[in-house]
Amino acid sequence: MIKIKSIWSTLTGSVSASIPLFFAVCKSGACATVCVSPIASIFGISSASLTASPLMKSLFPLLLAISAVAFTISYYKLYVLPKFDSNASCATDCGCDTPKKPLHKTFPFWSFWVGLVVSIVFFTYFEVQNYNSENQKVTITEQQSVPATEKTTEACCTTVRNVNKLKNMNLDKKAHWENVFATKQETEVSWYQQKPETSINFFIENNIPKDAKIIDIGGGDSYLIDNLLDLGYTNLFLLDISANAIERIKNRLGAESEKVTFIVSDILDFQPETSFDVWHDRASFHFLTTEKEIETYKNLVSNSISENGFMFLGTFSENGPLKCSGLEITQYSEQKFDRIFGTNFSKMTCFTENHQTPFDTTQNFIFCTFKKK
Ligand SMILES: C[S@@+](CC[C@H](N)C(=O)[O-])C[C@H]1O[C@@H](n2cnc3c(N)ncnc32)[C@H](O)[C@@H]1O
Repeated sequence: MIKIKSIWSTLTGSVSASIPLFFAVCKSGACATVCVSPIASIFGISSASLTASPLMKSLFPLLLAISAVAFTISYYKLYVLPKFDSNASCATDCGCDTPKKPLHKTFPFWSFWVGLVVSIVFFTYFEVQNYNSENQKVTITEQQSVPATEKTTEACCTTVRNVNKLKNMNLDKKAHWENVFATKQETEVSWYQQKPETSINFFIENNIPKDAKIIDIGGGDSYLIDNLLDLGYTNLFLLDISANAIERIKNRLGAESEKVTFIVSDILDFQPETSFDVWHDRASFHFLTTEKEIETYKNLVSNSISENGFMFLGTFSENGPLKCSGLEITQYSEQKFDRIFGTNFSKMTCFTENHQTPFDTTQNFIFCTFKKK
């Protein structure tokens, strides 16, 4: 009986101590490689579809519940039940002639308390992180809704605080993308395309010269650059906020990467020293969500494209998703593009298209080609 109890105590104790660790690994973004991949391979499915499944969404509350139950059981085994047990075994005329092995010898008390402290620290840490990111979303909305006149009359300290908040937001944005490219395989992200046909067609249909100066904004580790190199393009630039993304594409290209100029920068901080003949942006512009950011991008692109140069923009359409990579995005329509870029660009074509993600879902995009006036 003592043996069974000690096995049971050890089991519940280790479950309660290991679940917070599992929780931590998953919350830190390493879940796909550390936890999901082995499980996915057992069932013969892709870890991307398992990560995106409702099962994973229900995992965190489930882990919390299991952890709480395991702690309660451990506590009772260690502190409550032994009192009753010892009274029962001694309530005979013979007394306690076969003394029980104390429970804390088989399952030391300290491991229970260490498990409890570890759990509290992990849960608190991740909940504080959640709270901070929620808070930032509120700040963005606040900034969007404050009228310009009020902004100019703000006290200096409030302005400084807002500047600091913006800096933090930019750091978080960079950290987000660095983490994505450090932890996810290329086929574990929704925007993956083995061959970016739509973008390649733009270059072919518009007879873009092979020596045109072409920049891919937010290019990440997309295969567009590989294909443009194969087609013989010689003047290629790729800008991305994530150094990890650029490292990945450089490694993939090997010696060919020498032919490309890579720029690690937030697009909003980009100060080009040259003008471009083609500005290509698939699924990066739509991450700008405030009027100010969109205005900055518009001014940047208007000043960075040579006369008669092209801009090819692809974003989620108004029938597309509201988020990408867990971040808020702005959806676009032809009219919305016109309102933003109409003054400096002539619109040539616009079309919508369903992108098939590696998780077998579809995302509706809108692609527009503009020519600098
Ligand atoms: C959804 S992915 C699209 C990647 C690539 N264009 C494609 O079509 O496969 C968005 C990319 O934009 C980059 N990005 C997001 N915000 C950015 C910003 N403010 N400045 C520069 N790059 C950004 C991300 O690092 C990521 O590589």
